[in-house]
Amino acid sequence: MHGSVKSIILAAGKGTRMKSELPKVLHKIFNKELLGYVLDEVNKTGEVSENYVIVGHKAELVQEYVKNNFQNARCLLQSPQLGTGHAAFQAYDYLKNFDGEVLILCGDTPLITADTLKDFISVHRQNNASLTVMSAIFDEPANYGRIIRDSNGEILAIVEEKDASPGQKAVKEVNTGVYLLNWKDVSPAFLSLDSNNAQGEYYLTDIVKWAITNKFKVQSYVLKNNEESFGINSKSHLAQAFKILKNRVINKLLDDGVTIVDPDTTYISPDTSIEADTQILPCTYIEGKNKIGKNCKIGPFARIRGDVELGDNVKIGNFVEIKKSKIKDNTNVSHLSYIGDSCLGSNVNIGAGTITANYNHATKQKFQTEIKDGASTGSNSVLVAPVVMGEKSSIGAGTVLTKNLNDNSLGLTRAPLKIFDNWFKK
Ligand code: UD1
Ligand code: CA
Repeated sequence: MHGSVKSIILAAGKGTRMKSELPKVLHKIFNKELLGYVLDEVNKTGEVSENYVIVGHKAELVQEYVKNNFQNARCLLQSPQLGTGHAAFQAYDYLKNFDGEVLILCGDTPLITADTLKDFISVHRQNNASLTVMSAIFDEPANYGRIIRDSNGEILAIVEEKDASPGQKAVKEVNTGVYLLNWKDVSPAFLSLDSNNAQGEYYLTDIVKWAITNKFKVQSYVLKNNEESFGINSKSHLAQAFKILKNRVINKLLDDGVTIVDPDTTYISPDTSIEADTQILPCTYIEGKNKIGKNCKIGPFARIRGDVELGDNVKIGNFVEIKKSKIKDNTNVSHLSYIGDSCLGSNVNIGAGTITANYNHATKQKFQTEIKDGASTGSNSVLVAPVVMGEKSSIGAGTVLTKNLNDNSLGLTRAPLKIFDNWFKK
């Protein structure tokens, strides 16, 4: 987060094809916004000190999201939206005296990775380029800007599909929309952009031609895995990106020694870490940020909703939902339970159907439950938070616990059982 690079992230576009009230970049994959993926990966490079997010369509919503989640990002308004070149130009005044590199990318490409961005930046530096464009080779390059080269293979320009000749359209190397600029060298290009093209827009891609004309070194960096450039324009794209991301996460976890019985029906967010020899059983859904220890057994049919920390040897069984909770070693939550805003010690046993009642609907407040080491709950019990169960304490089946329980104590609420002998013979 303390590097010398600054980024400009283009996120002002309308995203018409999403057919949504929500701005495109605030759509989510695993409960995290598309823009959040891009900002997280950019920040993870360790190269970037500050991010300028260009907002336009429903700017207030994007602005609020960025403000609440990213300290090193600020939003700049682009209104009206006159093209990608005009979008990046919104940061021009803020970078007036900046003498470093500027990374430009789009807010709707959640599959880009920090590793690729790091490599991209280092290749730019090794080659002493003034401008590096990230390109990709596509068999069917439709809709992308084409990288046009001369007979020596030197880049001449990027030509948009709509402006391209049939010969240019045949080119398979395309612009992914990611650029690194030595700002002092290339930023004057923004003052010379015009909108004399098929779309009547100020094209960011025209900075390439300007840089070449002005004798600055321009090169491309060919993306190794095309998936990373995937931009989201529709709900169908969103679903495809989800699948790619989920498979990427699962393959990495398998490589790291996590047992995933059925990758097809297992969903794990990229912000979840899991230690080796933990088993994830089918139909398990894990979203948000989580930390899971070793030798745990999770699922089948378990849901972990984020901000969850599990120690080692923890068992989360079928139809169990866990949210914002910490669970220590050797604790079992085996069946049909909801654990939210809770802290469970080690060697705790949660009986089937135990619920932590953490929410007061009238006041809209959430409360904490604490269950200390060695405690247990009987089946179908409710813990009305805020409440604490002491060490080795227990509550019997069906108990509604509304008061704290001391260590080694038993809590029991039980309506008297009435038995009517021979009732059905009478
Ligand atoms: C752009 C590139 C194209 C490249 C492709 C990669 C240009 C002219 N073309 O085309 O070469 O192959 O990306 O996906 O740059 N945006 C704004 N303000 C605007 C216009 C766009 O912020 O006024 C943002 C959009 O929200 C989006 C990004 O810029 O995140 C790209 O815009 P888009 O219209 O999708 O560009 P393409 O036509 O796809
Ligand atoms: Ca696009």
